[in-house]
Amino acid sequence: MPVRHLLTLTDLTVAELRQVIDRAIDLKAQRARGQLPPLLAHKVLTMIFEKSSTRTRVAFETAMAESGGHAIFLSPRDAQLGRGETIEDTARVISRMCNAIMVRANSHEAVERLAAAATVPVINGLTDRCHPLQVIADLQTYQEHRGAISGRTVAWVGDGNNMCYSYIEAAVMLGFNLRIACPLPYQPVSPLLDASNVMVTDDVRAAVHGADLIVTDVWTSMGQEDEQSARVAAFAAYQVNQALLDLAQPDVVFMHCLPAHRGEEVSAEVIDGPHSVVWDEAENRLHAHKALLEFLIG
Ligand code: CP
Ligand code: NVA
Repeated sequence: MPVRHLLTLTDLTVAELRQVIDRAIDLKAQRARGQLPPLLAHKVLTMIFEKSSTRTRVAFETAMAESGGHAIFLSPRDAQLGRGETIEDTARVISRMCNAIMVRANSHEAVERLAAAATVPVINGLTDRCHPLQVIADLQTYQEHRGAISGRTVAWVGDGNNMCYSYIEAAVMLGFNLRIACPLPYQPVSPLLDASNVMVTDDVRAAVHGADLIVTDVWTSMGQEDEQSARVAAFAAYQVNQALLDLAQPDVVFMHCLPAHRGEEVSAEVIDGPHSVVWDEAENRLHAHKALLEFLIG
């Protein structure tokens, strides 16, 4: 059997995605009862972070520790990767010692090269193209709060970025309607945009009208810092605030992968208000990653 990777959400089948989400909910309940099964006893995960992280790193380290395994943190500064050792050689060496590799990289192509040379599962912890781990946790969070997401309407508001790309894949896999509100120059690129349940518009009010879930993310992602002022201007009309929330369903849920910038992509009253589930969403990174690790290497 060829080794399984998670580079993008569609590396899972729909059944596998549902299985991971259900298992994450189950593991969360077990943990609340004080049960921490040794699902990953003696397993070691190497994590390579080319970019900053709070949630992804803490979730994976905690998931490994609570499951009887261990996680190793590497930044390119410490690893020989940062001194010119090739991605392929790095992948081969880590594969000889560890059970899986998690990587957060500037370039998606670099993660594809790593996976091509690795003989253990490679997990994408965010690239310039997509962020599948976060969307698995988001799907878990929606299911916990409102039940099945299939057939529901999700409004993505803001940048057509890596998170947006993974939402497009999720919409096609799980059959929810996805309305992406984004100014023209920043609209997403994906082979899946032709799907009948996905639409892109620059009309943010139309996108959120009647929505069951509103999701946003920073206007300036990691690596785009030079574009900050142009982006703040381009996205000014796309802030998720109370006026926008009022157009959605009365029980609309608000999500943000975090870190957030209150007063930019979201108002404080929304992210800290009664429709926001961002803290559950952040916590669910732990449970979702445990379930995924169990699926890949347990
Ligand atoms: N949402 C997310 O991936 O957070 P970190 O950048 O803190 O890992
Ligand atoms: N789109 C953001 C997500 C951070 C978790 C970024 O890439 O910086």
